[in-house]
Amino acid sequence: MKHTYVSPKSYLYTIMHDAMHTLCIARFPQYITDSDSLSFEVEAKQIASFGDYSSNAAFALARIVKEHPSELAQLLAQTIREKNDPALERVEIAGGGFLNFFLTPSFLYTTLSRMQIVAQRPIKSKRVIIEFSSPNVAKPMHVGHLRATILGDFLSRLYTHQGYTVIAWNHLGDWGTQFGKLLVAYKRWGHKDIVEKNPIAELLTLYILFHDKVKEDPSLEDAAREEFKKLEMGDVQNRALWKWIVTVSLDEFKKTYALLNISFTHIVGESFYEPLLAPFLEKLQAEGIAQQSEGAWIIPLQQEGLPPALIAKSDGATLYMTRDIVSLSYRIKKEHPIKILYVVGNEQQLHFKQLFALNTLLHITDIPLEHVGFGAVLDTTGKKFATREGRIVSAQDLIDQVIAAARAVVSEKQQHIAAQKKERIATTVGIGSLKYNLLKDNRTSDIIFDPQRMLSLGGNSFSYVQYTYARLARILKKTTRIVRGRPNSLDERDWDMIKIILQFDDALTVCMDTSSAHQLTDYLFLLANKINAFYEVTPVLSDDNAGRKAARLYVLRKAAHVLATGLELLGTTPLDQI
Ligand code: ARG
Repeated sequence: MKHTYVSPKSYLYTIMHDAMHTLCIARFPQYITDSDSLSFEVEAKQIASFGDYSSNAAFALARIVKEHPSELAQLLAQTIREKNDPALERVEIAGGGFLNFFLTPSFLYTTLSRMQIVAQRPIKSKRVIIEFSSPNVAKPMHVGHLRATILGDFLSRLYTHQGYTVIAWNHLGDWGTQFGKLLVAYKRWGHKDIVEKNPIAELLTLYILFHDKVKEDPSLEDAAREEFKKLEMGDVQNRALWKWIVTVSLDEFKKTYALLNISFTHIVGESFYEPLLAPFLEKLQAEGIAQQSEGAWIIPLQQEGLPPALIAKSDGATLYMTRDIVSLSYRIKKEHPIKILYVVGNEQQLHFKQLFALNTLLHITDIPLEHVGFGAVLDTTGKKFATREGRIVSAQDLIDQVIAAARAVVSEKQQHIAAQKKERIATTVGIGSLKYNLLKDNRTSDIIFDPQRMLSLGGNSFSYVQYTYARLARILKKTTRIVRGRPNSLDERDWDMIKIILQFDDALTVCMDTSSAHQLTDYLFLLANKINAFYEVTPVLSDDNAGRKAARLYVLRKAAHVLATGLELLGTTPLDQI
């Protein structure tokens, strides 16, 4: 019989569930259906005396059957003991009704040997669209886009690992009235060769120049509206200019994506939806769903407790929201996803609430739509990132700063290696530290961007986890054949490490459930700590007990594999040598 891997936590969850069911049949038959749908927790414990895992199931059951949790815990423990499950060494009761589980070494070791640590086979029907990055052309990607890009890429890797087919979607901001302003500025004050040398920075300068000049000459606003109108109507010169602006900007974004090792299935500009907007608006107007308000077109959403959605301005120009609704139905038709995630900063929370309310109102789709919001990224003084002149700091500049900080660390430590290799390591460490750092905090918190701190070896950092991985890789390289070994000779520290290794899948499950990454970085940090504590005092390669040595190498290989897989899921590259 082929055994599939189930984490100890899921295994215990099933045991608990069965015990509840058995107990209810015997003692509380009227509550069987209620108890089957009860939600309770099974949690890993860090302190050995509380067992390896603990469950609050008795408290949950107490609420429906109205008995004392401690008595129910006794009954549940009894039920579990009677089943004689070989996984359980013993079950204890603590804290007035918590059930503490102690697992047998043979169960732990067998489970470890079944652990695969590879991506699940993709299931064709499990298609999910993950939208992320979505910068605006002619402007630099800023630090908020950077957080979105790194988080979205992590989620894509995670979903892929869990057997989903991921469609990584970039909703490029390449349309809107601001292009009218840019066209005015470029035609009056721009130079092709200057822009081509440094497209995004120059286009931003032109855009800012427009805003300066308009203060003295308000007629420029009319000129801008005129240029945008022409662009919308398909004016040949404006179309060509706009296309060129999109191309040069996108080329720059692509360099950043390549450096970050991030790719997309589709990059679809907002402009793509332009031809679909007029028929869409007409339909809503005809059906009376869209209403006129002070010349503009709106869809009231007060039933949802939201301000009305603005879908067309008085001059007929469509809006960000309109393109988002049309894009949603396009995505559904094109990709048939079972779910869509939008990885976009918290400041757009209202926008997404409105978008999802419109979806319900217009019956576009029933699949879950999730706004994966996140907090701001601030500079070291806790303020919004800006240059001295108040300009946006580009994501590329920030990436360069981190790589520069990594370069300094690498050349200090590795004097003897060739310059080219050093540069490669600096880039890997820099990008790794950047990603790890942007992922390690709760996604809704605001975070501080500090290249120096990102590079520090101490604490929960890429370098620390990476260092631990490299340390294991060095040991494992010295061994040619790894066999299962004899686990009965292992000691407390080995088992401690094994138990943590076995929590890998649970960490991934929590990340999936909450669309966040910090539970994985926390987990990797914990595992790295256990490995280092183990290695500090335990000689592995010099051990003359052959069975124990083999078992330890077997465990260390699993640990290394988990660390490497975890780092890869974060979008970073584990190095064997550092
Ligand atoms: N381009 C937008 C911005 O930079 C983000 C787009 C978010 N995605 C969406 N479907 N609205 O603010």
